[in-house]
Amino acid sequence: MNRQFWLGLLGGLALASVLRQTSKTSLTQSRLDAYYKRRAENYNDTDLQVGLLGRYPRIEMREAVMNLADLKPGDKVLDFACGAGANFPYIMQRIGPTGKLVAVDYSPEMLATAQRVINQHGWTNVELVQSDAATMQPGTDFDVVLCTLGLIVIPRHEQAMQQAWDALKPGGTYAIADICESDLWYARPIGWLLNILDLFIITDSTRRPWEWLAARTENYRRVEVFFGFFYAAVGKKPLVE
Ligand SMILES: C[S@@+](CC[C@H](N)C(=O)[O-])C[C@H]1O[C@@H](n2cnc3c(N)ncnc32)[C@H](O)[C@@H]1O
Repeated sequence: MNRQFWLGLLGGLALASVLRQTSKTSLTQSRLDAYYKRRAENYNDTDLQVGLLGRYPRIEMREAVMNLADLKPGDKVLDFACGAGANFPYIMQRIGPTGKLVAVDYSPEMLATAQRVINQHGWTNVELVQSDAATMQPGTDFDVVLCTLGLIVIPRHEQAMQQAWDALKPGGTYAIADICESDLWYARPIGWLLNILDLFIITDSTRRPWEWLAARTENYRRVEVFFGFFYAAVGKKPLVE
């Protein structure tokens, strides 16, 4: 190997490490608010815009997490960082008219689009709450708490996870899904791409919220989605803590 190769490799590693650090420090609530204000109107279209070879990874992720969460008719569900309500049709189809959905987001503009989704479907059992998930008080005794594409975004994400934990009833299901840096060897280069993407979509894909979940829950399960580019994970809150 010649000198240029080693210099190139060293430069690449240094750049990757700067990118990883930058994605953490540039993730601020004010940048997020401006970003989601701009994107709110058409945010839910993203599910069908992000596709490769006829596959839609965000939709695969939603289906994976819904299957793991095993929602039932009549369930009371919390969807935090709910955005524009992209999960609502999946949830409402499963919990039906006897269930209850409480959905929390920080962005009033995203919630306005979520309200339009509710109106279009005529659901009367969905409540929207505008709040920082890190301090939300959505109520108690939820059968299922859920967060998709939110835990690499919410600035104080561990506090948000804890608030949702407190709202979950003992024996209830905690379900999360997101983009991630995969541990699969063949997905490593995707991780580097994600570090670059982080800067543009204001995320920190170096976070590993599934480890928080694995440490607290029973029957913990995690599945890789779309070649490890996404994951879905689920666990049950113990009956006695
Ligand atoms: C990538 S979007 C995901 C939306 C939705 N969960 C989905 O799967 O389509 C991230 C959402 O997190 C919300 N968010 C950002 N900071 C938040 C906070 N501190 N508390 C609650 N929601 C927050 C944003 O407003 C945005 O709607």
